[in-house]
Amino acid sequence: MNEAQEETKRTYWVRTFGCQMNLHDSEKIENLLHHNGFRPAAAQDEAELVLINTCSIREKAENRLYTDLGLLRDWKSASPNRVLGVGGCVAQQEGDALLRRFSHLDFVFGTHNLRLVPTMADAARRGQRSARTEEHASLDRFELPARHPDFAGRGNGHAFVTVMEGCDMFCTFCIVPRTRGREISRPAASIVEEVANLARRGVREITLLGQTVNAYGRHDARRSQSEAAGTVPFAALVRQLSAVPGIERIRYTSPHPIFFDADLVAAHAEVEALCPHVHLPVQSGSDAVLAQMRRRYTCEEYLRRVDALRAARPDIAITTDLIVGFPGETDTDFRATLDLMQRVGFVDSFSFKYSPRPGTQAVELGDVPPPDVAQARLAELQELQRELTLAHHRARVGQETVVRVEGESHRRGGKSVYGRDPYHRVVNIPGELAPGLFAEVRIVEATPHSLIGEAISPKTAAAA
Ligand code: 5AD
Ligand code: SF4
Repeated sequence: MNEAQEETKRTYWVRTFGCQMNLHDSEKIENLLHHNGFRPAAAQDEAELVLINTCSIREKAENRLYTDLGLLRDWKSASPNRVLGVGGCVAQQEGDALLRRFSHLDFVFGTHNLRLVPTMADAARRGQRSARTEEHASLDRFELPARHPDFAGRGNGHAFVTVMEGCDMFCTFCIVPRTRGREISRPAASIVEEVANLARRGVREITLLGQTVNAYGRHDARRSQSEAAGTVPFAALVRQLSAVPGIERIRYTSPHPIFFDADLVAAHAEVEALCPHVHLPVQSGSDAVLAQMRRRYTCEEYLRRVDALRAARPDIAITTDLIVGFPGETDTDFRATLDLMQRVGFVDSFSFKYSPRPGTQAVELGDVPPPDVAQARLAELQELQRELTLAHHRARVGQETVVRVEGESHRRGGKSVYGRDPYHRVVNIPGELAPGLFAEVRIVEATPHSLIGEAISPKTAAAA
């Protein structure tokens, strides 16, 4: 076999479903693969190794895996060198049951076992099938190699940074505490070091990640172990990161309303790099439903946090997650959700029909609204959101803003690029601008999903 053939054999393709944590996990896996001699394939069909990073938050997401696995049967059988692996939340829950169910699947890796991927892929090439889903309560899983020089990531000046992982909240509808394990926070010093390294490579905007990101360090503080663990309050972490040279924008996702303390609110007034956008999942506007969901706040408490944020940063954009059709949700409860949406004036929202997840407490609550009722509620809610979003967008026309260019947008009629403004709105800009550039833009048009802007001048040179 010549070198060129050997080269094409060690190629990979990763399919990712779900949240930003999963997207970032896929980046970590790709980086590991680079360190182990793999390179990205030009197309899935050409890859030697295909990985599916799965999501189980709703039934629909989980079913995507089963469809995908079915479709990959022919790909796998076309060559004995091909290796197929499944990771993420479905892998964590199902483990070797997936291997039993899908004879063409080679290996399964859980959410705490990303580091094993290259070894498992090599073993699979030698014919060894395996599933590794053991949970690790230590910080070892965060100790991953620095970015491989050939793995430039997206090269658009942005990077995700995990600050904590896992969730101990156990909202009754949610599978995450069962797929991501217990809350664990990284030491502040290693987060600062990672961000400083990213900044040296041209990253100017970071998004701090955690299932309940602002619960960062809370268990250490409760046990009076913060010093030993090297953690600090979340707002203090944000302040430390804002002092890293080169970091111009800081975002975080997703915070839980109950951990939104006065310090974090104050940070929004005081830390210039902290973006004026918070994605603050509310889930429902009915206190009765919130209690059944075990969200641990009332609507009034949620609204008080929103008011405090607005007092600190009057232009702040608030987005949210909403669930309709939760067990016991009456029409009155649903109307209360619409009412709350209007009172807050959410700039945008992700909205879902409740999907029963096996093993969660909500499946025992019963009394689920009929599917057509849930569907109608979802449609009505999304129509209201569309109006709210459009009103926000229209109010922006004529304003100037700064957009970090992410890439080319697929719009008809000439070249254009898209990026995000400080409020996390997507802005399309006609013309050609390099990814990573911070472009000064004037908003000229509003659509229900995005803004259209004209470049005034590039603020600074493109990120490396
Ligand atoms: N059904 C519907 N939506 C859900 N979410 C989480 N679990 C479920 C479920 N079982 C939604 C919540 C959460 C977002 C990430 O997904 O709104 O904030
Ligand atoms: Fe799921 Fe609730 Fe944890 Fe969010 S806070 S990940 S909704 S259990």
